[in-house]
Amino acid sequence: MKKDIFLNSLTALLLITAVNVRAQTFTVKANQIKAEVSPTMWGVFFEDINMGADGGIYAELVKNRSFEFFKPLMGWTLQGKRNDGDILILNREEANRANPRFLRVKVDNKAKGALGITNEGFRGMGIKSGLKYDFSVMYRQASPGVKLHLELINEKKEVIGKAELNPSGSGSDWKKQSVSFNATATEQKAKLSIWFEGSGVIDLDMVSLFPTDTWKGRPGGMRADMVQWLADLKPGFVRFPGGCIVEGHDLATRYRWKNTIGPLDEREQIINRWNFEFKHRPTPDYFQTFGLGFYEYFQLTEDIGAEPLPILNCGMACQFNTAEVVPLEQLGPYVQDALDLIEFANGDVTTKWGKVRAELGHPKPFNMKMMGVGNENYGPQYLERLKVFTKAIKAKYPDIKLISSAGLFPSGEGFDFMNAELRKMNADIIDEHSYARPDWFFENASRYDNYPRTGSKVFSGEYAAQSDRMVSVNNKNNWQTAISEAAFLTGLERNADVVVMASYAPLFAHIDGWQWTPDMIWVDNLRSYGTPNYYVQKMFSTNRGTNVVPVLLNDKSVTGQEGYYASATIDKGTKELIIKVVNNSDKSRTAEFAVEGTSLGSKGTLTSLTAGSLEAVNTLDKPADISPQQTPISLKNKKLKANLAPYSFNVIRIKMI
Ligand code: AHR
Repeated sequence: MKKDIFLNSLTALLLITAVNVRAQTFTVKANQIKAEVSPTMWGVFFEDINMGADGGIYAELVKNRSFEFFKPLMGWTLQGKRNDGDILILNREEANRANPRFLRVKVDNKAKGALGITNEGFRGMGIKSGLKYDFSVMYRQASPGVKLHLELINEKKEVIGKAELNPSGSGSDWKKQSVSFNATATEQKAKLSIWFEGSGVIDLDMVSLFPTDTWKGRPGGMRADMVQWLADLKPGFVRFPGGCIVEGHDLATRYRWKNTIGPLDEREQIINRWNFEFKHRPTPDYFQTFGLGFYEYFQLTEDIGAEPLPILNCGMACQFNTAEVVPLEQLGPYVQDALDLIEFANGDVTTKWGKVRAELGHPKPFNMKMMGVGNENYGPQYLERLKVFTKAIKAKYPDIKLISSAGLFPSGEGFDFMNAELRKMNADIIDEHSYARPDWFFENASRYDNYPRTGSKVFSGEYAAQSDRMVSVNNKNNWQTAISEAAFLTGLERNADVVVMASYAPLFAHIDGWQWTPDMIWVDNLRSYGTPNYYVQKMFSTNRGTNVVPVLLNDKSVTGQEGYYASATIDKGTKELIIKVVNNSDKSRTAEFAVEGTSLGSKGTLTSLTAGSLEAVNTLDKPADISPQQTPISLKNKKLKANLAPYSFNVIRIKMI
């Protein structure tokens, strides 16, 4: 008996070993089109979290430029000897609700260096040697008499750039004056000092400093390196402005798009909800200036060839925080905001909001095709509000596709309830959010295989594998999380008739100012890098293909058998077959692909992403340790074979002839 058990175990062991070393043959049915892959399939989720906008992609270097933070001088230090009243914060709330505060400086026969203010930037200011910087300020004065000396200071307190400004003119109207100057050294954490010389009283507001190497060289624009990461993804859509930012901690701090367009000094600032959300990661200086507002978001999507996907507040604040709701009978203005946004994006210049867009510099419509109502909202209160929005929007704009929220989690009673109700409503697209351990992502590679093939489509709107647990500060963007996402995404791609959009979240994080980890792209004041998770996303988005075709292992979809996960598409435009395979095993393996229904060209490429260990990460100093490597592959005896490294994600592209 014992001998039998021993022999059986030995046979099993030998079989397993044989399986591991044998070249697996996958069958690809290149002429069996299963689904179209939506051009919007792989996109970007943008939110001002982790200093993603202010202090991040929005290139403004001065923090609290208009003195509107709770503490009006937060970010500023007063310099020199002064008497009471020499430097004052004034509040003109009655006259200007959007931008009430300004700084009054009284200078009495002062020499340069006697009285000044210094701004610390967002965790310092990233300054590049030789680059030109644009300083500007709004001011008013009874008569000229105060000269401004600007100095960029490095950590050793040396001056690395300077200029002078002689504010001209007088009177009660606010004026703007600018000066540009070159920096003489590179510095991660510079500061900007403004010294006042002469005699007089001058009021200052909107004190601003921008680098000139912004995206497309737009004055007051975005950090080019950060936009480039997005452009390189060739994303199908950009979802903005969030995220929980949309909901607000309470309704007062919800995102209101109309407050984010037009002159910068008229965009009313509010606190960023991530300022105080996590006790373990407080960020007391986190506010939303809205310098990056809805016009800029639309412009960004257009620049990088993505569809705009704005998400609007549905009359509910974050249900995790205050759960404030607007009474149904007072929902009108919220719905109107949604209707007006569609007119702003798409209306011709004779419409009220189309005219506003034209005046901002974009007469051509942005051609917005979809919009989200609510972020992570759920329950009966959400459904009744969503119905009001849906009725009003569909009545006026039947072609706009609406994204509805399935709530916070991708499973459980709450999810099942929302999923059923939204499907009953025949919701266009349902937004599912998945933050879970890597195991969940592997297991859910087959999640959509059994979803209904008709009715509502799915937007996998926020996902990220958590190496520790959701909102843990210990989460890392390590290779294990990324490879598990790759496995999950093969499932999304295989089910492209059900899943029409997907985006990783959150997108950006500043190394000195984050609240939430993991994140797809990390930055400091001068540098940025893509995580392994970024490269997984990029390998899907830049190898999308137009149509899904089956890739099978022993006649079954490849959803984890022997550690393999796979999907395949063809690209009708380039006439290529694109196969994506995850080898989630510690063995290097040769995969063979028996491709039916087409002949193949003799040469193709294998792009492979792998790492030295599952714990491996990229860093600012080693930004590309884990990054895709491309090698040529060729057919041997008419057979398509690829060597798959241990724990690797691979994309094969080859011509169909
Ligand atoms: O991506 C970070 C946050 O996660 C988003 O703001 C929110 O929608 C989700 O809970």
